[in-house]
Amino acid sequence: MMRNGIKNKKVILAVCGGIAAYKSIEILRLLKKAGAEVRVIMTQSAQWFVGALTFEALSGQSVFKDMFQEGSEASFRHIDWAREADGVIIAPATANTIGKLANGIADDPLSTFMLAVASPVLICPSMNTHMYANQAVQRNLDTLRSDGYVVVEPASGQLACGTTGPGRLPEPEEIFDRFLGCLSPKDLVGKKILVTAGPTIEPIDPVRFISNRSSGKMGFAVARAAEHRGAEVTLISGPTHLADPMNVTTIRVRTAEEMAGHVFQQMENADVIIKSAAVSDYGPKESEAHKIKKGKNELVLHLQQNEDILKVLGQKKKHQILVGFAAETKDLEKNATQKLAEKNLDIIAGNLVGSSDSGFESDTNTVTLFFKDGTTESLPTMEKLEVAHILLDRIATKVLRAAKAPKSTKN
Ligand code: CTP
Repeated sequence: MMRNGIKNKKVILAVCGGIAAYKSIEILRLLKKAGAEVRVIMTQSAQWFVGALTFEALSGQSVFKDMFQEGSEASFRHIDWAREADGVIIAPATANTIGKLANGIADDPLSTFMLAVASPVLICPSMNTHMYANQAVQRNLDTLRSDGYVVVEPASGQLACGTTGPGRLPEPEEIFDRFLGCLSPKDLVGKKILVTAGPTIEPIDPVRFISNRSSGKMGFAVARAAEHRGAEVTLISGPTHLADPMNVTTIRVRTAEEMAGHVFQQMENADVIIKSAAVSDYGPKESEAHKIKKGKNELVLHLQQNEDILKVLGQKKKHQILVGFAAETKDLEKNATQKLAEKNLDIIAGNLVGSSDSGFESDTNTVTLFFKDGTTESLPTMEKLEVAHILLDRIATKVLRAAKAPKSTKN
């Protein structure tokens, strides 16, 4: 099963001839940064837009661009690369290549290679709006979809040819994200997953607030991973700098009270609720309507406790699987297992905050999972997206399967 998607995986990046070919350089960079081994195939017309040398230098491998003129080693390259590939991205995909793939034509390295591919393929069309709307192109794309290829809708906007409309290659980050989804197992199709993320902020006056150091990265990673695996995901997030994950219904909130309102509204609908938000436990009893002016030497703020959203969910839960997070500075096991019991959770993911590779602002996390049945699982330090996938693995197998199992009948 793909964890963070593409670490150590063999990925083929195929580049066709279009203005957007320059964006493929950035796609290559993102793949390499994520730890993939990338090989590049270029069509002949792609080489008019970007030099093969650029891809060669960045991928560290020679580019496959000619069937017959690169020595005997190259003669079976289309078969070898297809056999070894864990996934393929075609970006930009031109109308010509789309037409060839839809009709099984094999007259250049890319189309010949594609006939031998058995791994997931992401096709990213990019062309003039009228070409994209053309019936033949749309018919070919429908064929490719029904053949099992994943097609990314082009973005809309002003195109290089001056036309405005759909046809632009989406941003490399978006293509990279869709490719991760393409490689993920689809074991959460039909499941509704509610995720919370980020901090909440509790206003003191119009310019000041109480909050915490949560970045939202863990919750956003959970939402992305769940969407990649086919779930219908709603994300309720406190203020963060992160962009809405693709295909996820994202609701932005500020206070614990707002978060509670949305979570309780969505609860009934959810199969799984994963609360990774760092909800402020206390907020000012009263928020001042105007900025508090500097005056006395000492200022006392009166705080009152916010509702514990997860605890209420635990009391109200029926069919839902409940997952909490516990960020602790000491006594991880004691604190996490106490929260697991008190909040009536199925799993709690605990981590010690404070080190640079684990916790709030970090891209990695060192998590221990504590399960309702008393078992625990300590994970090594890994990317938050990878942690999210492992958590979803456990939810999908251990918890969702147990919930589905028929009750034993006594005779
Ligand atoms: N949580 C919540 N509502 C709150 C506080 C916490 O839903 N008002 C949830 C968090 O989203 C998290 C879990 O409870 O999933 C544990 O949060 P944490 O802040 O670690 O624990 P608390 O219960 O607040 O206890 P303490 O702050 O004393 O450690």
